[in-house]
Amino acid sequence: MEVRKGSHVSGVLEGEYFFNGGNLKEIPRRLVALEEGYDPGTVSRLEGLGVSQGWGCLEVGAGAGSITRWLSRRVGTNGEVLAVDLDTSYLDVSGADNVEIRQLDLRTDSLPDGRFDLVHTRFVLGHIPERVDILDSLVAALRPGGWLLLEELDSFGWGVFDSGLHADVVLACLAPLERQGFAPRFGREMPALMRDRGLVDVSAVAEAPIVAGGSPGLEWLRITFDQMMNHGLAFDVPGNGSYAEWRRLADDPEQLLVGVPIVAARGQRPIS
Ligand SMILES: C[S@@+](CC[C@H](N)C(=O)[O-])C[C@H]1O[C@@H](n2cnc3c(N)ncnc32)[C@H](O)[C@@H]1O
Repeated sequence: MEVRKGSHVSGVLEGEYFFNGGNLKEIPRRLVALEEGYDPGTVSRLEGLGVSQGWGCLEVGAGAGSITRWLSRRVGTNGEVLAVDLDTSYLDVSGADNVEIRQLDLRTDSLPDGRFDLVHTRFVLGHIPERVDILDSLVAALRPGGWLLLEELDSFGWGVFDSGLHADVVLACLAPLERQGFAPRFGREMPALMRDRGLVDVSAVAEAPIVAGGSPGLEWLRITFDQMMNHGLAFDVPGNGSYAEWRRLADDPEQLLVGVPIVAARGQRPIS
């Protein structure tokens, strides 16, 4: 599908998802490190929603596919999973007969209406400037009684539970991303946006993981920042530190550092 182009900012296109370009060798590991760091929390939230045999699920921005595969096993042969992404080349769903893959752009392509018991995103909407319009289409994709689970970044934990070079670097990296259309405080906006769209039983949790250097959550962050640097989205490292010094910290298992803070918000389409 054709990708809409925006204006040019610092070597990348404004509003364009650029993490799938550049150093192609790093992309699969970035997506898998993300999955290793965040799947346990996501799976427990999906279990909490009661995802079970026969459900129809929409996985939005499916990435490398670990949650698609989990949903596929969980809903079984009577259920179905539709996995969509701008770039499906990293999506591994081998052996899952109940999964349909669609390569599409959430900004311009439509999703099925009124069809799913579950619609899920993780670390997708924050990147896309048209996120609120997309949220409308995710709500519309639910069947009556269906659940929307949004899991998105919110910077609330950085600089609160940590200080020094790590906090300085992660906060500094947000400025060029914001200029590019990223919304680092979208997580906290989601519950009200969901309620305003008529969802009921809306609730949310916010988690700031504190993890060892070199663990998957930190590796995801390190690869992401390397990609930013490689794409002309370099950021100044404040104080006397350097980016090389931060990379050593992020890889050091003796360090305890705040990974990517996440807000997980859920809400249900009324049954009638
Ligand atoms: C940070 S990755 C998250 C992957 C997966 N949700 C996970 O948590 O493991 C963001 C994903 O959103 C997809 N994405 C970004 N912009 C998109 C768009 N406009 N339409 C569809 N997918 C998009 C990317 O291709 C990428 O797979």
